[in-house]
Amino acid sequence: MLQILLGSSLGPARTADPALARLVTQGRGSLAFLIGDSECRQRLLGACINWDRVLLAFEQDHAVGYVAFKHDARGPFALRSKPFVREFGRVMGWLRFAGFCLSECREWRYPFLLYGLRVDKSARNQGVGSGLVQACCAHARMSGFREVFLEVPLDNDRARQLYLHNGFRLLRKRWVPFPPVRTMHRPMEAAL
Ligand SMILES: CC(C)(COP(=O)(O)OP(=O)(O)OC[C@H]1O[C@@H](n2cnc3c(N)ncnc32)[C@H](O)[C@@H]1OP(=O)(O)O)[C@@H](O)C(=O)NCCC(=O)NCCS
Repeated sequence: MLQILLGSSLGPARTADPALARLVTQGRGSLAFLIGDSECRQRLLGACINWDRVLLAFEQDHAVGYVAFKHDARGPFALRSKPFVREFGRVMGWLRFAGFCLSECREWRYPFLLYGLRVDKSARNQGVGSGLVQACCAHARMSGFREVFLEVPLDNDRARQLYLHNGFRLLRKRWVPFPPVRTMHRPMEAAL
């Protein structure tokens, strides 16, 4: 049975599991030029996760997906320069860190942003992605937000369809970041 839980409700012992950090740091592939491949992303961001900004999907106690979100100037990753400097050295570390901060700050325009969504390949096409999107919208509503925004890369047809099937509507195309994205929006009263 699928169970979706807020990361911060799991407690520190469970969120210390490196498998959870690996899952949550897998996204943001388009920022590889700043934060590297998935192993590097885990080293940079794995210890900086704000678990109150992540919903995790479990099947029989095994984490199979997550949705991350941002609101009130707090997203799933705390911005810390130390891991960047450790990974890339002083100059490149600070440059990459500054680039990552810029990319993160760009998104504060949205009151509530669905920041990232990922389902393990082994668990796809079983409704986990939809369950996570719905849980994220319910969380936004419970936290007092009346709308949810997200950005989907133009070439990600699969994700765009999933969001459309879950009540989101297409808004404008954005050329920054690169590759370009399409903004999508769902008012909380949307009937599905
Ligand atoms: C996009 C992504 C999150 C979708 O996750 P998913 O768990 O496969 O999504 P769902 O199972 O909810 O939906 C996929 C399809 O499964 C089918 N499906 C949904 N519920 C189902 C169920 N209970 N039983 C069987 N099939 C089901 C549907 O056909 C659905 O297609 P539809 O949305 O066109 O109706 C996943 O492919 C992924 O992680 N991709 C890589 C990361 C990514 O692109 N993230 C988005 C960034 S913007």
